[in-house]
This record gives sequence, structure tokens and C-alpha cells, in this order.
Amino acid sequence: MTDAATQQTNDAARAEPGSPAEAEEREDRIVVEDVYKIFGGKADDAYKLLQDGKSKDEIFAETGATVAVQDASFTVYSGEVFVIMGLSGSGKSTMVRMLNRLIDPTYGTVKINGQDITAMDRKALIDMRRRDMSMVFQSFALMPHQTVLENAAFGLTISGRDKAEREKRAQEALDSVGLGPNANSYPSELSGGMKQRVGLARALANDPPVLLMDEAFSALDPLIRTEMQDELLRLQQEHRRTVVFISHDLDEAMRIGDRIAIMQDGRFVQIDTPDEIVSNPANDYVRSFFRNVDVTQVFKAGDIARQHVEPGEGVPEVSAEASLDEVLSVVADADGPAPVVDENGKRVGAISKTALLKTFDRAG
Ligand SMILES: Nc1ncnc2c1ncn2[C@@H]1O[C@H](COP(=O)(O)OP(=O)(O)OP(=O)(O)O)[C@@H](O)[C@H]1O
Ligand SMILES: [Mg+2]
Repeated sequence: MTDAATQQTNDAARAEPGSPAEAEEREDRIVVEDVYKIFGGKADDAYKLLQDGKSKDEIFAETGATVAVQDASFTVYSGEVFVIMGLSGSGKSTMVRMLNRLIDPTYGTVKINGQDITAMDRKALIDMRRRDMSMVFQSFALMPHQTVLENAAFGLTISGRDKAEREKRAQEALDSVGLGPNANSYPSELSGGMKQRVGLARALANDPPVLLMDEAFSALDPLIRTEMQDELLRLQQEHRRTVVFISHDLDEAMRIGDRIAIMQDGRFVQIDTPDEIVSNPANDYVRSFFRNVDVTQVFKAGDIARQHVEPGEGVPEVSAEASLDEVLSVVADADGPAPVVDENGKRVGAISKTALLKTFDRAG
């Protein structure tokens, strides 16, 4: 399912550009509790049948109601990239649209920064969207007769800021996605990847603490797609936002996700770190996503480093960006786990030989 337009749900700018990533404590940013979405038919009847253990298909046949999301409960923490994966029709878009109430949950609550958005009146909801979140869709329409800058400033127009301020913010957002020099171009002069960057810039112009991205890169060809993933990761380095990112694509999910949530028939069947999901898939459906993936090529040292593992004495440090082959060459004949450090030299954890061999084992 695609969308006709980028839905700009955040059209006011926050006062502060945001504090440095390191200074931020992990907070509960989005808390989803017992959420259901039932389309069509009688929701209460469908709900009862669900409790009786009937499947989505059986319920549809009996009542005409579609159970798009059932029994969803999870927390997304500040600063993390939370990826939702699942087959087509599994409920991903419905779920993400309930996070800003583009779709109203049938049952359950969604809290953003501790505020229950399911209880908000229209005005409070609009304020919350302006303040707290932006959404980027797979495909969207740029306004053809407006410049890239004007398109990027689109969401700011209604926020009551003056033109100079809007343009300044839009220009900064374009700079941040590498489109600074194209500010005065028109959309027809841009490639597909560049257009998608304008969509991202538009979402970033408000400096939202939460970004919702529904298959935002799926329409792009593979090279540009990887480029956009890198862009997102780079932006996260600069300023950690909370990102809920929907993807069909396992490689994408593993590259950018701090945690991956897997949906099957409207239900969350597993929510875990990428390596935990690969190591301990909850069921065959989850396993099937990984069947043809060589995880040793996808994971880097940082992905499998464990915080509570103590490095062995004198074992050389490896970079979080190191390949698992490189890690193996270090730990193969070391006395204990190898410390893993990020680009600032800060320890992010350690990898033991056993853990590493297990990862290779599973891949083989
Ligand atoms: N407005 C609607 N009315 C009725 N049923 C709907 C509506 N929107 C979604 N559905 C149904 O809800 C289920 C979940 O749909 P959803 O679009 O959330 O899936 P998805 O995981 O995003 O799929 P895709 O990967 O194809 O985008 C599907 O069975 C779909 O047919
Ligand atoms: Mg979808």
C-alpha cells in the first residue's frame, strides 16, 4: 500500500534544535498498550471471536471485519530506530498510523511522551503532531511549481512563523540531507532519490523528536536506497531522534534498526535486537525472513557486541564498524572477548569467541 502524498503531521518548529546525543537519557517515547484495529463489521463481535482463538481469516469470513492489528503492546525509547517488518497486509501501516492517530485505534492506548493521544481532542492532537512528530511516506507529491526550498518549507507554512524563519529552517534541513545547492531547483529537475530527500528534509524541517517512516525508501533503486539509509544513520549520529521505520526489507531493517519488531497477521510476534532475532527467532515466520541471509556479511562488530561482557585483558580493540571476519581474526587466539569501540573510541561492549562462533554457526 502506498500513499499519495507525504503526510506532514508536524508543522510547527520546536524552539530548541535538540541536545547532543550523549547527554540524552533513554526515555519511554512511545508506549503502545493493548492496541487493536478492527476495520469494518462489528468490532466487539470480532474481538470476542479473537478471544475465542479464531484466526483473522475466520473472523473475516464470519463477520466481514478485518483485524488489522491485534493485541499490540510495546515501548519505543527515545533515540532508537525501531523497525517494523512483516509481510504485506500484516498491519504495519495501520500500526504506524495509529501512533499519530491518522487511524484511531479500536481499543487500547497510545502514549507519546506520557500523554495518551487516544484521549486527546482534536486541538490537542494537532498540537501534539506539530510538536512531536513528522511522517515520511513511500511516495509523495512535491508541488511542481514550487522550488525545492518551498517544498521543504511546506509543513512550516501553517505554523505561523515568518517567511525568513521558515526558509532558514527549510534551508538547514536541505543542507542536512545534502540538497543545499538544489534549493532553488524545481522538482522536475531532481532524480527520484533527490525527491525522496526533499520529503525527508520536509519532515526534518520541524525538527521533530519522533519520525514515522512508512516504507520511506522502498520506491528507490538499491544504490540510492543504501545511500538514504546511510543518510538516516548519519542524521541519527548528529541528532538522535526516535524513528519508527517500516520496511519490507530485511537488509534495511538490520542496517538501520536498533530493534526490529516483526508483525504477522496483525500481531507482534517478536521484538528484539537484530542479532537476537537472528539468533532466537520466535517462530518459523520470523525464521523465514532470515533464511537466505548471510548474517555474517550483514552484521558488524557493533551489532553483536554485548555491553555486559567484560573484554579480556590486553585484547586489541575492534571498531564497531569492523566486519565479523575482522573480529574473528582478533578473538581467534586472544585471551578473552574483544572490546568494541565506536568512532569516538567509546566502549560499546565486547564480543566473546563463543558468541562469534555461534553467529557464524547459525549462518552456516
Ligand atoms: N481502511 C481500511 N479498511 C479496511 N481494511 C483495511 C484498511 N486499511 C488496511 N486494511 C486491512 O488491514 C490489514 C493490514 O493492512 P496494512 O496496510 O496495515 O498492512 P501493511 O503491513 O502495511 O501492508 P503492506 O506491506 O502491503 O503495506 C490488511 O488486511 C488490509 O487489507
Ligand atoms: Mg503498508
